[in-house]
Amino acid sequence: MDRIELNGGGCLRGEFVPPPDKSISHRAVFFSSLAKGKSTVRNFLRAGDTLSTVSAFRSLGIDIEDRDDELVIHGKGIHGLTEPHTVIDCGNSGTTIRLLLGIVAGNPFFSVLTGDDSLRTRPMQRVITPLRQMGAEILGRDGDRYPPLASKGKKLRAIRYSLPVASAQVKSAILLAGLYSDGETEVAEPFQSRDHTERMLPAFGVRIKVEGLTVSVKGGDELYGRDTTIPGDFSSAAFFIVAALLLKGSEITARAVGINPTRTGLLTVLGRMGAEVTMENIREVSGEPVADISCKGGKGLRAVDITQEEMPLLIDEFPILCVAASQAEGLTSIRGAEELRVKESDRIKAMTTELKKMGVEIEEYPDGVSIKGKTMLKGSKVESYGDHRIAMSLAVAGLVAEGTTEIHNASCVNISFPRFFNEVKRLTCHG
Ligand code: S3P
Repeated sequence: MDRIELNGGGCLRGEFVPPPDKSISHRAVFFSSLAKGKSTVRNFLRAGDTLSTVSAFRSLGIDIEDRDDELVIHGKGIHGLTEPHTVIDCGNSGTTIRLLLGIVAGNPFFSVLTGDDSLRTRPMQRVITPLRQMGAEILGRDGDRYPPLASKGKKLRAIRYSLPVASAQVKSAILLAGLYSDGETEVAEPFQSRDHTERMLPAFGVRIKVEGLTVSVKGGDELYGRDTTIPGDFSSAAFFIVAALLLKGSEITARAVGINPTRTGLLTVLGRMGAEVTMENIREVSGEPVADISCKGGKGLRAVDITQEEMPLLIDEFPILCVAASQAEGLTSIRGAEELRVKESDRIKAMTTELKKMGVEIEEYPDGVSIKGKTMLKGSKVESYGDHRIAMSLAVAGLVAEGTTEIHNASCVNISFPRFFNEVKRLTCHG
């Protein structure tokens, strides 16, 4: 199914349950693997990225049983990992390689971490630099910038580190390395990034201190096995929320979606654009807030300015926000978003190039875009660049467009949302 065709002119109606959260699924496998004793992970995301994390921990000697309704992980404690016999392939997953680097750096063995063509062009110095300050011995391709990365585990020392760019992956990697260090490791961020690590580590028994934008961890704390249930992924639900808002006659409810405020910046922005999105049945699942989210289509949207501070809270929603902006009256400006150039693809360039093909007035800047709406989109042949979130955003654009849109390299949706196109088909209605 590498080429998908979608027709505009319909709407979306019904209920759906988005796939389990990708970031939280990764962390549940990481922490369960480092814990002493048995853990279970319910509602685990079985998709490309998170299965890369499972196979990485199996290579490090952890027994992970994949039962139909849950993963059962037999952790051996933070010092229970063993040297992998071969290179660890992290596939397309930035979270797998960066968090894992923080762990192998403090383990007394040799390991090599690599990934697919996209991951091997993603910057790793941002993790290598602080880990080296902690005493890690890590080498990488092209002057230590890119994977493959080779680590010879060392005894680490605690550091205080200020991240130049807000990043949950780098923050988490340093905190995990901190577990293998003497003393207290402290990480400060310029802006708040997603806080799933800080929420979940204490549940496994680790003492974490959060003070404003600074998080610290004490070296030597052990993790203990526990059960985790993964909430639905807001970032996956976002494609259907935006599609429903843009398509007249739509009415959808997404059930059991994670609404952690460090993830739902898109809802704040959609609110400023004039959208009405409601949340009901707010509850907590494994330390994460969850709700049922509903919205209706057809109400006009207005353009907005996105601030640099809110970018990390909607970092993965940039592509779908560009689609929403193309349907909003006025000039939307999304700046301070240079991080988007180094995601699974250069998302600034990808969205500029592909939305232009569909008739959008979009201007590219080094750190973002400006988009003039509202434009009647034209069905076109578009390219995903092998990036799951670009493929799904262009699919939403295709539903909004006149005529037929053909998405090339569409199977990359398997990275986070394998049933995406089935769900689009199931929820699409006409008239
Ligand atoms: C993630 C953090 C974000 C996000 C990525 C997943 C995580 O990356 O874009 O999809 O699970 O920690 P950065 O932390 O590098 O911004």
